[in-house]
Amino acid sequence: MAELIRDPVVMRERVLAARGAGRRVGFVPTMGALHAGHVSLVERAGTDCDDVAVSIFVNPTQFGPHEDFDRYPRPLQADCRLLEPHRVAWVFAPDAAAMYPPGNATQVVVSGPAAPFEGVIRPGHFAGVATVVLTLFQMVPSQAAYFGAKDWQQTRVVMRMVRDLAVPIEIVVCPTVREPDGLAMSSRNAYLSDTERTRAVAVSESLIRAEEGWRSGRSVAEIEAAMRETLERRGIAIDYAAVVDAESLAPPTPDADSIALVAGRLGSTRLIDNRLLPARAAR
Ligand code: PAF
Repeated sequence: MAELIRDPVVMRERVLAARGAGRRVGFVPTMGALHAGHVSLVERAGTDCDDVAVSIFVNPTQFGPHEDFDRYPRPLQADCRLLEPHRVAWVFAPDAAAMYPPGNATQVVVSGPAAPFEGVIRPGHFAGVATVVLTLFQMVPSQAAYFGAKDWQQTRVVMRMVRDLAVPIEIVVCPTVREPDGLAMSSRNAYLSDTERTRAVAVSESLIRAEEGWRSGRSVAEIEAAMRETLERRGIAIDYAAVVDAESLAPPTPDADSIALVAGRLGSTRLIDNRLLPARAAR
């Protein structure tokens, strides 16, 4: 069974001791309310590494003032039970004062891939993510960290931060895990009512339409229009539905992979998802 650690100093000692003994440590940062998507990250880390650490911390600084920080689920015991069969050495669940000591005055602000999309809709979100992720990397100094592709823009932001600040860690991006009808697994899916849950499938449907359009040579404008139509038909309030370069999130080019990104709201629940579109020139 995993050791539950609250103290960052103890957490760091455990990882450094394992590394000192020649072990490779993998790290899965989470905000808890774990589901099969998180489990897939833990499994992948367990395949690549000797020891796995999972952090559970609902990070206040990545939520906007009117977002769901207060109602975000925090089922710590159920999370620990879910991890039990998965060979996790440590669950790190610090309290807010350990992550943000009184008087803390430092933020990590990434521009570039953090600017568009979520960066516009949720100002300050990626500064909160980058700051907490870098802090977690100090407290859990593993050789590799595992992130889900569902939060594609977040993966680009973390990778850019790691590159720019020369953080000695490998970032591994793992495939999105989906419900049988295609809905991407997310802790926020628990907020959906039954009827909203049925309509939520339009998010992944819009991405399937994007891929069909992409493969049949449609223009980006046509593909984005088809995505919007799919979402609007099911009453999803669209934040964005766009096809962009998969790395820079700038307008796509034929020689590089692109990505269809979608974010929208069903009632008070926000859903995001994406689908990689292979470089057209390569086909
Ligand atoms: O993806 C998440 O769950 C969070 O953004 C992360 C990376 C754990 C930082 O709080």
